[in-house]
Amino acid sequence: MKRIGVLTSGGDAPGMNAAIRAVVRGGIHYGMEVIGIHKGYNGLINGDYEIMSARSVSDILHRGGTILQTARCLEFKEQPGIKKAVRMAKDIKLEGLVVIGGDGSFKGARDLSAAGLPTVGIPGTIDNDIACTDYTIGFDTALNTARDAIDKIRDTAHSHERCSVVEVMGRDAGYIAAYVAMACGAEVAIVPEENFDFERDIIMPIKEGKMRGKKQNLIIVAEGVGGSVEMAKAIQKETGIETRATILGHIQRGGSPTVTDRIIASQMGVHAVELLANGVGNRIVAKQKDKIVDYDIMEGLNMEKKMGNEILNLSKILSM
Ligand code: ADP
Ligand code: F6P
Repeated sequence: MKRIGVLTSGGDAPGMNAAIRAVVRGGIHYGMEVIGIHKGYNGLINGDYEIMSARSVSDILHRGGTILQTARCLEFKEQPGIKKAVRMAKDIKLEGLVVIGGDGSFKGARDLSAAGLPTVGIPGTIDNDIACTDYTIGFDTALNTARDAIDKIRDTAHSHERCSVVEVMGRDAGYIAAYVAMACGAEVAIVPEENFDFERDIIMPIKEGKMRGKKQNLIIVAEGVGGSVEMAKAIQKETGIETRATILGHIQRGGSPTVTDRIIASQMGVHAVELLANGVGNRIVAKQKDKIVDYDIMEGLNMEKKMGNEILNLSKILSM
């Protein structure tokens, strides 16, 4: 391939810039011209792009967000939108494409590949909810951002002997909640993957902890469960312990990527370029154990991700 493109799609994630840099410099290394497409699939439909050079990705490795910007493009979900995008790709002589995003973005990548534009997906989302990969770019940074915020909430909760309910992101997945609960020593993590009973799983542990001399409680709620404000009110009513709710929100999406995110993004970016350099499209780049691998997009999208309960059980044991 002589000319490939790169775009970011769906919610941004820290480390996307590191992946863009790896695609651009990897592409140049393999003798290809790389164009950066702006604002996700919108930019492909509208021909909104720039020619990238090794220098246009200088000084971005450490920056959160995405220099190409991102979007949710509804037009692209329908066949006419995909046809427009493929026509534009032909007009601008694009022979391959790298899409950095989540499951939704990969469905678009599958459609583009089927319509004749070989496209490779790189998993970029803080949610870590893509089945075929152990890891998605942005997860570690989001965890560290949430950990930092929760440590601060803990300081004030301790001073007032309060219970804190903290709601973290993750869409329909509980990975951020489960991991951050363990890292912050939460009493309870409520995730969409497990049914919970308010009395048994929240009120009982708080009351038992109080009898054992616990002076504060931390409950982590995944946004896929939600209702943290009402939950805080109910906890206060049932236990008599002053309780506050905090919804961390988009703070979890920003910030400088951690070392883990920078390294995995760099590895995945180069892997994607190598696939295209060999004429291979319709793949999702993934991390399995310590290896960077790739899957057919449909095969990857059809896999089922199971969180398992090890991390939640361990958190429970250690919160005694
Ligand atoms: P993510 O990629 O993070 O899962 P979204 O689900 O919002 O985020 O998807 C991002 C974009 O991918 C959408 O705005 C749309 O342009 C494209 N997309 C999503 N679902 C499909 C689909 N079923 N077919 C084609 N394109 C899709
Ligand atoms: O997929 C990343 C994510 O931050 C989810 O955790 C959250 O549910 C969603 O995106 C929020 O989307 P928006 O930025 O459109 O509010």
